[in-house]
Amino acid sequence: MPRFAYVNGRYVAHREGRVHIEDRGYQFADGVYEVVPVFDGKLVDEEPHLDRLDYSLGELKIAQPCARPALRFICRELVRRNCLRRGILYMQVTRGVASRDHKFPATVKSALVVTTKNYGGPTPRMIEEGARVITIPDIRWARCDIKSISLLPNVLGKQQAVERGAFEAWLIDRNGNVTEGTSTNAWIVTSDKRVITRQLGNAILAGVTRASLRKLMADDGYKLEERPFTLAEAKSAAEAFLTSSTSLVLPITQIDDDRIGGGKPGPMTRKLREAMLAYVAK
Ligand code: PDD
Repeated sequence: MPRFAYVNGRYVAHREGRVHIEDRGYQFADGVYEVVPVFDGKLVDEEPHLDRLDYSLGELKIAQPCARPALRFICRELVRRNCLRRGILYMQVTRGVASRDHKFPATVKSALVVTTKNYGGPTPRMIEEGARVITIPDIRWARCDIKSISLLPNVLGKQQAVERGAFEAWLIDRNGNVTEGTSTNAWIVTSDKRVITRQLGNAILAGVTRASLRKLMADDGYKLEERPFTLAEAKSAAEAFLTSSTSLVLPITQIDDDRIGGGKPGPMTRKLREAMLAYVAK
């Protein structure tokens, strides 16, 4: 069965989806994106993802490609046409097509591309045994709160992780604090069961999974601290995990060469993963 993509107003066969060579996303990475998880054919946290898309567009002064109800319709229609049950929906908005010139074009229509992908999440083995992360300097720009398609440091970081046999790279800022992963938010749990993650701000992406987990934790009476934490604190934590739309809650059992929690996923992480799984299945 052919897979469809939505490209600037049309549903086309995925392999035939094309954008213009002077799309500013292609030339300047002048665009933003969202990744929305799909469970059981439904978009999870659709509104917060669309809210964050609006935020990213607003910060970069890129025009909305269409009104919210139309965008909602396009996303749902693509999931339906592609018979997607479990996977992700990717949407990308760029400033549009114009003759190459750094400054914003005077009149241009923003470009919208939406695709879907089957993806079952991390392997059962990774969930059971926990993932390994390496750490590298955070060399990204000062507006990591914008979900920009300009992802070179993230791409280079993930590649380094893979080459060193790890799942993810945690990024370390100039003060020795962990900001986040290349495509995930970073969390640790102390021996007295406090859960710690970096506070929102320009240094990290406001993860939608992070926000949902935060709500679930508040409902269940977990103690959450939103503050910077150092690599040393992470390495001596009782537990560590990461969150994202693609991994949900994934235990981390090794940071660089140091084992976390005796090298096994911790009980809090397991509970939070279960809570998240129940949430997305709702
Ligand atoms: N990445 N931090 C960064 C830098 C990210 O790119 C992402 C998401 C997250 C987690 O955000 P959320 O919970 O909303 O997925 C944190 C997506 C999945 C990606 O780039 O593929």
